[in-house]
Amino acid sequence: MTLAADLLDLAARIAQDAGALAHRRRQEGVTVAATKSAAADIVTAADREVEAFIRAELARERPDDGFYGEESGAEAGTSGITWVVDPIDGTVNYAYGIPAWAVSIAAVEGSADPATWTALAGAVFNPVTGELFRASRGGGAWLGAQRLSVSEVGDAGGLVATGFGYDPATHGPALEQLSRVMPIARDVRRIGAASLDLASVAAGRVDAYYEKGTHPWDHAAGALLVEEAGGQVGGAPGGRPGNAMVIAASPAFFARLEPLLAYPRVK
Ligand code: IPD
Repeated sequence: MTLAADLLDLAARIAQDAGALAHRRRQEGVTVAATKSAAADIVTAADREVEAFIRAELARERPDDGFYGEESGAEAGTSGITWVVDPIDGTVNYAYGIPAWAVSIAAVEGSADPATWTALAGAVFNPVTGELFRASRGGGAWLGAQRLSVSEVGDAGGLVATGFGYDPATHGPALEQLSRVMPIARDVRRIGAASLDLASVAAGRVDAYYEKGTHPWDHAAGALLVEEAGGQVGGAPGGRPGNAMVIAASPAFFARLEPLLAYPRVK
């Protein structure tokens, strides 16, 4: 087995166990524990508990690796591998009971600076549907036994997923951006979980996804899924938190979409 395949096995196993824990907690009732960057940016008790579970499992299996999690922060390792974790991506969906949330776990190689990272393995698990999306560098992207590949977009335009982030100052510019995309879109979706948006591009369920302001834990695993499904990921995948624009699509549709996404000035 290659290192990437080993890391993927571990990511997939822990994502499923963590997802089962989050699902049980959801059935017991959701407690919003705090808000973060904005009132809409919530953390549930389950986000924290599930991240602690993932962190402990990884530390037991691979004590020399680094960790970079949404809820509990970063810790450098010594092995050159860092785990990038969103315990519940799509927390607002989780809180409302909308079945589009996921555990996202990626193993990346590089220094402590996210801008240098190369993802080696990524698992995105939706515990409600039971779907486990997996990718390892050079090993393809998979949903169960099905190898994934991005869609080809015809003349009717692409089905484009996007997200709007939590910072109210970005909402006007995001709508302006969307108005430029609409002429090449068959329709638009706001799924509510960046990792599932990217998994959907990899699976050909949507033709493209873009969003300004995602964090590495939102997109590290999903971006690898798209690349391994033959897609192109641009903006700053794995880039610094808060300033990344993620754009993902087939190479042909990416070339049509990217020029429309210049980000207007935020006042
Ligand atoms: C959020 C979701 C959402 C996206 C935000 C993310 P969270 O992650 O992925 O779809 O629009 O940018 O922060 O907060 O639910 O883990």
